[in-house]
Amino acid sequence: MRKKVIAGNWKMYKTQADAQEYLQEFLPQLDETPEEREVILCVPFTDLAVMSRNLHGSRVRLGAQNVHWESEGAFTGEVSAPMLVELGVSYVVIGHSERRQYFGETDETVNQRLKAAQAAGMVPILCVGETKQQRDSGQTEDVILKQLAIDLEGVEQSRLVIAYEPIWAIGTGDTCESKEANRVIGIIRNQLSNSDVPIQYGGSVKPDNIDEIMAQPEIDGVLVGGASLVPSGFGRIVNYS
Ligand code: 13P
Repeated sequence: MRKKVIAGNWKMYKTQADAQEYLQEFLPQLDETPEEREVILCVPFTDLAVMSRNLHGSRVRLGAQNVHWESEGAFTGEVSAPMLVELGVSYVVIGHSERRQYFGETDETVNQRLKAAQAAGMVPILCVGETKQQRDSGQTEDVILKQLAIDLEGVEQSRLVIAYEPIWAIGTGDTCESKEANRVIGIIRNQLSNSDVPIQYGGSVKPDNIDEIMAQPEIDGVLVGGASLVPSGFGRIVNYS
């Protein structure tokens, strides 16, 4: 049985005060959440310490949004895996399309980050996905297979989550049809040596489309941006039926 993994990605939103206020409303909603669902909040680095304290004793796992591949060194502005682990971080998003698009992230650096995260005991959430132009020109499969081939080289698949995030569906309200997301996720799964890797869908997931998305047999969870910022909305997503 593959694990259901529901993760919020706050991106560059919420101060520590905002984060604490959020948890007061969000955490009580988890009383209704089936136990086998993994619930994760991937927050800005500056929120990690306060989240870690406030999540103590709750079922929510803490996630970061990036990690450097060296454990320390002269890398101004970067954060290492041991630094995250010390704060109680157990998941880390790697290779998000916003990192690839705006910060020059390549498949080679994604691969190094994945290995460093695993070496420190964290579970990486690897993001892959195509642009609108790549989809329109029929390259979706090729693009994703190439990303996977480089990103996953030497990566332990027993401690991994993958998120299929079509770039054109991120923050646009333009969700990928759930059947199409299911199809692409099936293709991703065929490439893996371990068929138990949870594979999420991400891109304009909302309270009103979560039930349909989670009804798809290949989709094991969601990576939620905008809708994870609202505690009641993310509560509804986590408690999908
Ligand atoms: P939205 O849910 O805002 O479309 O963002 C998706 C995403 O990028 C999650 O990592």
